[in-house]
Amino acid sequence: MLNQRQIIKDLLQSTAFDTEVHVKGWVQTTRMNPYIAFIALNDGSTINHLQIVADISIFGQEFIDKIKNTGTCIAVTGKLVESQGAGQRVEVQATQIELYGESDPVSYKLQAKRHSMEFMREIAHLRPRTRTFGAILRIRHTLAYAVHKYFNDNGFFYLHTPIITGSDAEGAGEMFRVTTLDPVNPPLTEDGQVDYKQDFFGKPTNLTVSGQLEGELGAMALSKIYTFGPTFRAENSNTTRHLAEFWMIEPEVAFNDLEDNMNLAEDFVKYVIGYAMEHCSDDLAFLENRLIEEEKNKKQEERSPMPLLEKLRFVLDNPFERLTYTEAVDILVKSKPAQKGQFKYPVSWGIDLQSEHERYLVEKHFKKPVILTNYPKDIKAFYMRQDDDGKTVRAMDVLFPGIGEIIGGSQREERYEKLHTRIKELHIPEESLWWYLETRQYGTAPHAGFGLGFERLVLFVTGMTNIRDVIPFPRTPQNAEF
Ligand code: 4AD
Ligand code: MG
Repeated sequence: MLNQRQIIKDLLQSTAFDTEVHVKGWVQTTRMNPYIAFIALNDGSTINHLQIVADISIFGQEFIDKIKNTGTCIAVTGKLVESQGAGQRVEVQATQIELYGESDPVSYKLQAKRHSMEFMREIAHLRPRTRTFGAILRIRHTLAYAVHKYFNDNGFFYLHTPIITGSDAEGAGEMFRVTTLDPVNPPLTEDGQVDYKQDFFGKPTNLTVSGQLEGELGAMALSKIYTFGPTFRAENSNTTRHLAEFWMIEPEVAFNDLEDNMNLAEDFVKYVIGYAMEHCSDDLAFLENRLIEEEKNKKQEERSPMPLLEKLRFVLDNPFERLTYTEAVDILVKSKPAQKGQFKYPVSWGIDLQSEHERYLVEKHFKKPVILTNYPKDIKAFYMRQDDDGKTVRAMDVLFPGIGEIIGGSQREERYEKLHTRIKELHIPEESLWWYLETRQYGTAPHAGFGLGFERLVLFVTGMTNIRDVIPFPRTPQNAEF
């Protein structure tokens, strides 16, 4: 028989009064007087709870005491009625309640009170049941859906690039080794090295840091592709913006130059933010209020300059500022913090911009998202197209307020000779990239692409401050629980 459960999100909108309904979910809180228990029930379909009204004379005090506790799972049959009380439009007058799972109020770790974000990370198996994490997870889902919708609606094909890779060429970060060799007694070659010929793939392999190189292969056939998959970086970065396992969206487009690439990035990121605003208004309103509450304890200058929704709207309504790395360095050198020696890392042409520099440009100088282009070639990857000055490459980074770099990309070097020379200069093992080089030997074409860090996007849209709180089960140094 069809499961007759109705979801709370729908019931809260329903006007089918006096009909019988079936709901299932987890008890959030219970208020009681001597006659009636008012149970706030949530099934995760919405941030809002459904009020269940249970007459204690029908169910008995003993049973009510079992089901009233936070975290208890119950199934309810009852009548949908217009609510008498303030705070909700409808409620359910229970006629039957089935207890699925009790929750002991003494040992249950997730009480109906405010817990710190740090503590919630220790109980990541339970934190999705809170309103904050429920909201974040629904927004995360909606953003992922919007990503696929945007690309599908614009003629892109979803290309599944490999997660295990045999090339260590991207140079985007330290890699995690993938092996089935015995770690204690690996087979050795005659000169005492580990013999990877005997490993599963017959050579050393790693978890990918990016789908880009394979993405380029797809773009050289399908013109417009995107990847959306997990990527892995074994950097020991314990920051609020780094994960060892994160999801990246990487479009790659044949015949696009750097300008087209910037236009695509800006249009795409505005679309997905707008989609979330349209489809997650309850969750976003909840997170906005949460942020206002949280920031009450902060000093004025540490508070967000705008409430969450206004900030998102502002990003949608204003064109991103576009300037070259060289222009940005000029601004930074002349800036107050540089003049007063307040930057931790001094600025000069050629340095890799630090997050303090990026944040100055975005939050203090331009006060909106910024796209920096044409970085020095020595601080960027080998595959970026070289500019005619011999010093810079057609790179672009999109910088967001409160986040810093959210997107990194470039027009790619499509000229075989230039690419080959650069690979040699950087001592990149050519034989691991023969297939990449062949795309430049047969039917090469100008092309460009970028990578958007999905968690950094979710961080921005939810207004959260730590990237570990916008992925269900974060992987960071010393932490792979759950
Ligand atoms: O700038 P990145 O390293 O660029 C690439 O990997 C290119 N292959 C992308 C391309 O052109 N197709 O990474 C892209 C984005 C960054 O801008 C950032 O948002 C995110 O990925 N990112 C991380 N997010 C979370 N944790 C980390 N450790 C991240 N490293 C990068
Ligand atoms: Mg980058």
